[in-house]
Amino acid sequence: MTEGRLPALQPKPVAVVIGASSGIGAALARRLAGEGYRVALLARRGPAMEELARLLNERCGEDTARVYVHDVTRYEDVPRLFQRILQEMSRVDAVLYVAGVMHRVDLEEFDFAKDREMLEVNLLGAVAWLGQAALYFQGLGHGHIVGISSIAGDRGRVANPAYHAAKAGLTTYLESLRNRLSRRGVHVLTVKPGFVDTPMLANAPRKKLFWVISPDQAAADIVRAMKKGKQVIYTPARWRWVALVIQHIPSFIFRRLSF
Ligand SMILES: NC(=O)c1ccc[n+]([C@@H]2O[C@H](COP(=O)([O-])OP(=O)(O)OC[C@H]3O[C@@H](n4cnc5c(N)ncnc54)[C@H](OP(=O)(O)O)[C@@H]3O)[C@@H](O)[C@H]2O)c1
Repeated sequence: MTEGRLPALQPKPVAVVIGASSGIGAALARRLAGEGYRVALLARRGPAMEELARLLNERCGEDTARVYVHDVTRYEDVPRLFQRILQEMSRVDAVLYVAGVMHRVDLEEFDFAKDREMLEVNLLGAVAWLGQAALYFQGLGHGHIVGISSIAGDRGRVANPAYHAAKAGLTTYLESLRNRLSRRGVHVLTVKPGFVDTPMLANAPRKKLFWVISPDQAAADIVRAMKKGKQVIYTPARWRWVALVIQHIPSFIFRRLSF
């Protein structure tokens, strides 16, 4: 993709954060800007991102943040938007796919409209964006690709079949990208959060939540893992032990559990 190989006119690295208007994405944008990155903020809600960009430009220097209003289900717009960001920001060093939707689904409910949106935003949008990033970074010989999956993708629970499937798909997609791209010098990080206090959890029954962390804590873990070149992390890290147990519960028992 020679079109993508523009000279690095700006010394500061650039991170593209897809899903930057709230929660973990907004926290990542703040953290990355604090670490010296310039950030491209993408999501549908322009005003929320304009406000974040204003704060970051005030705090970290003019032209730290730029806003690109975008719906990730408009897959056909992705290649052109990637090139536009590359041109306007002079370089791209990291692409973080954070966008996600988790609808509330009852145990007897099977609603294709909800399921479709969860698969489109959590998985297909990620494939559209991270495939574009992979194409660019493999030519460049470096770069970070980060995908926010979930511990919810580690097993097909009764709670929300399409959400679990989308996150399982994203986890596997990221593993494949890593296996293709690590030999080309590109770092791929899979992030599996537990519970993070964001608008996504607004409708979740509070008494079922535990070990809830702030989006800033999650962002700190993620940026640390990027710097260390980690492959897969749970945030907070203790979820790894829960995941290990969940992964090893035999199917005949797992089927009877109600979470
Ligand atoms: N919170 C948790 O406990 C938790 C746990 C595990 C994994 N996660 C994952 O973490 C990621 C971030 O979620 P969050 O907790 O920070 O929730 P959030 O605050 O609701 O953020 C979701 C982000 O996704 C964006 N988004 C949704 N649909 C979009 C679309 N069609 N096009 C573009 N952007 C879209 C939203 O922006 P707009 O609405 O402005 O478009 C928003 O910026 C998600 O992938 C989620 O599955 C969260």
